[in-house]
Amino acid sequence: MDTFETHLQLFNSHLENYKADVNLRSPRELYEPEHYILSLGGKRVRPLLALISCDLFGKDPSLALNSALCVELFHNFSLIHDDILDEAPLRRNNPTVHIKWNTNIAILSGDVMLVKAFEVLKNYEAKEFSQLFSIFSKTSIEVCEGQQLDMNFESASGGENSVTVDDYIQMITKKTAVLLGCSLQMGAVNAGASSVDQEHIYQFGKHLGIAFQLLDDTLDAYSTDEKSFGKQIGGDIIANKKTFLVLKTLELANVEQAKKLNELMSKNKGDNVKKIQSVLSIFNELGVKALCEAEADKHTKIAIDHLMKVNADRTKLKALENFSLALLKRNI
Ligand code: IPE
Ligand code: IPE
Ligand code: MG
Ligand code: MG
Ligand code: MG
Repeated sequence: MDTFETHLQLFNSHLENYKADVNLRSPRELYEPEHYILSLGGKRVRPLLALISCDLFGKDPSLALNSALCVELFHNFSLIHDDILDEAPLRRNNPTVHIKWNTNIAILSGDVMLVKAFEVLKNYEAKEFSQLFSIFSKTSIEVCEGQQLDMNFESASGGENSVTVDDYIQMITKKTAVLLGCSLQMGAVNAGASSVDQEHIYQFGKHLGIAFQLLDDTLDAYSTDEKSFGKQIGGDIIANKKTFLVLKTLELANVEQAKKLNELMSKNKGDNVKKIQSVLSIFNELGVKALCEAEADKHTKIAIDHLMKVNADRTKLKALENFSLALLKRNI
């Protein structure tokens, strides 16, 4: 399987150098959480995509190391803040930053990581910097927009203002998918790829990201192995998240099922174990897990279509396709 082990080692050693600098900074309350979250592992998908993309276009992947660091810092910043918003206790199998320290520390340490994500781009020459800056800042704004939509949808319920599956796809495109597209496009910029190739590789990443989030939401409800998932199972149900599973159920449900699900998904405090069980049994009545997986497949196919339009070495394209399929199966 194409695991891109050498790319991962290349990135990890760049990250270790960066973390050594984080260790020297003060006040420690600001920087310890940054060091902590960067030391918890994670799949490093976004930095890998940046390096793989640069390599795909025939250039030394190390040219994309600072793009890779930029997107991984941004991703980790977004996780620290996301866990505050979602009131999540677990991240990568460890306590979240706001639980281990407190919310104020989580806000500030996240803030400084966001700024540093931009700062590492200063290592590129003016023309390249300006292209990277514009892709990355556009993406960062979209992620914030997606996160706000995610919050808005939590409190939305049935009736005229109800959220649709299309709204959900737009929301996950912004909160998750565009950062995968951005990572690949930044690597392509580092390699000097054409704008047509940049667009195809971006669209590949975007649709891969949509599939990835759809499947992550399925795992959030259905995973039976919290250790390998690394996050609290059922967290989305507890937080009343309007995932594909919920919205598809509402689309297909009879009046009684819809009423029951709406009721369950507007509760805030109560017996969470019971709530999760009741919601899952309505999902199962309508078979929405398989429909969510089918929707993910649809986006995976669109992603691969874009990838195959990229003007690059066939063997390398195939390796990236295999990597993306392994990611969706959580085999990386
Ligand atoms: C978590 O992303 C946030 C989502 C978009 C679902 P990852 O699953 O890539 O997180 P890490 O970096 O591997 O922990
Ligand atoms: C993640 O969405 C999006 C961002 C972090 C920007 P989720 O809230 O579903 O991610 P997890 O499940 O906490 O990783
Ligand atoms: Mg979350
Ligand atoms: Mg969230
Ligand atoms: Mg989630």
